[in-house]
Amino acid sequence: MPTTATTDAVIDTAVGNGFDLKSIVRPNIWNLEAYRCARDDFSEGILLDANENSYGPVTGIVAGDHGLQPATDPQTNPLQLHRYPDPLGRSVKQRLLKLRQGIRSPDQIFLGVGSDEVIDLLVRILCVPGQDEILITPPTYGMYKVVAAVNDVGVVRVPLDVEDGRFQLQVDKMLEAIALHPNTKLVWLCSPGNPTATRLETRDIERILNSGYRGVVVVDEAYIDFASYEEDLSLAPLVNKYPNLVVMQTLSKGFGLAGIRLGVAFADPRLVEILNKTKAPYNVSSLTLKVAEGSLDDKSIANMRRTIAHLIKLRDEYLVPELLKLPRVGGIVGTSSANFVLARIVDKDGNPDNELAHHIYNDMASNHSIVVRYRGNELGCEGCLRITVGTEYENQCLIAKLRELLSKAVDK
Ligand SMILES: Cc1ncc(COP(=O)(O)O)c(C=O)c1O
Repeated sequence: MPTTATTDAVIDTAVGNGFDLKSIVRPNIWNLEAYRCARDDFSEGILLDANENSYGPVTGIVAGDHGLQPATDPQTNPLQLHRYPDPLGRSVKQRLLKLRQGIRSPDQIFLGVGSDEVIDLLVRILCVPGQDEILITPPTYGMYKVVAAVNDVGVVRVPLDVEDGRFQLQVDKMLEAIALHPNTKLVWLCSPGNPTATRLETRDIERILNSGYRGVVVVDEAYIDFASYEEDLSLAPLVNKYPNLVVMQTLSKGFGLAGIRLGVAFADPRLVEILNKTKAPYNVSSLTLKVAEGSLDDKSIANMRRTIAHLIKLRDEYLVPELLKLPRVGGIVGTSSANFVLARIVDKDGNPDNELAHHIYNDMASNHSIVVRYRGNELGCEGCLRITVGTEYENQCLIAKLRELLSKAVDK
C-alpha cells in the first residue's frame, strides 16, 4: 500500500476503490513544482529569509507603537503579524483532528480561504478548461456552477428527486449522465443541502463511490454541525475508505466565524498534497489561523455545541411552528437539518405562489430591513423563502412582520 509523508505525519492512503488520481489530475498540475520557501524547513532564529519587516506592524490596532523596538518578542507582539503565516496551518489541523475523530492525520486535511477557495481549487486542479465537466444536483449551492463558468468548465445537471420535498439523489440518473459525459471530473453533493436543508442518504453517496466512477466526489458539509449536534453524522471518516472522496466543512456557519474565511477539506493525503502545491503559498492568514485555533479548543467546541442546540430549539420550537400558523404559509419544505428553513408561500388555492413570495421578500428587505432569501426560482422550491434562524428577537421581528404582510395579502 502506498504511503506519503507530506507534512509531519506519515499515513497510508485510503484503501481504495480502483481510483487512479494521476489519471484525472490535469497534467500541468500533476507536474507542478510547488513553490517552496526557507520557512518550510526553518522557522526559528534570526529570520532574514522572507523580506519581512522586523520592526513589526505600523498600526496600533494589532500592537503598540513599536518605537523602533524589534517585534520578535511575543510578549509585546503576540500576534507576530510581521511574519508570514505557517503555509500549512499545522496548529489548526492538530485541533481539527480532535474535532473529527475519524481523521487520522493532518495529511488528510486541507485549509482554504473559506470553502469557496476549496471549490475553486478542486475545479482548477481537475478540470481542463473548454474540455471537462462537473456534475451538480439542483437545487444546490450556487458557487459550484459559478466556479465552473469562471474556469470555462461545462456543467451537467441531474436534479435531486424533489417530489414532496424529499431532495434526495437520483443515483441511477447520475450514473447514466456520467456515462454520457465521460469528462465529468467532479461530482458536487451538498449535505445538508443549500437551499434544501436536507441531508443526503449516505448509502446513495456510497453507491456513487462504489460505482467505478473515476472522478472525484465532493460532499459539501457546510451545515453539518447543525445536523450532527446529537450524534456525529459527518462523512469525513469515509475519506479513509474512498481515495476519490472530498468532504468540505467550514467555520463560517456552526462556529459563527464567516468573517475569518476558513474552509476545511478532508481527503486522501495524495489529493491534499496536490491542493497544497496548487494553492497560493500563504493562503490562510495568521489572524485567521489564530482565531481558528482558539475556536477549536475544548471550551469553544462546547460553546459551539451549546449555541447550535439553542438555535435548533429556536428553529423547532418557535420559528417553524409560528411560520406554520401564518396565512399563506403552505408548509416547510425539506427536513430542516440546518440553521435555515424553506418556507413555502401559497396562493388562496394552496398552490406555490412565486409572485407573492417575491413581493414579500422585496417588501421586507426594502421597507422593513428584514432580509431573507427568495428561492422560488429553484427547482422544487417554488414559492419558497429561505429563512435563517436568528436570535430570539430577530425571529420574533421576522414573524411579526411576515404576519402583517401576509395578512394584508389575504385581505386583498
Ligand atoms: C453549501 C455551502 N457551501 C459553502 C459555502 C461557503 O462557505 P465559506 O464561507 O466557507 O466559503 C456556503 C455559504 O453559504 C454554503 O451554503
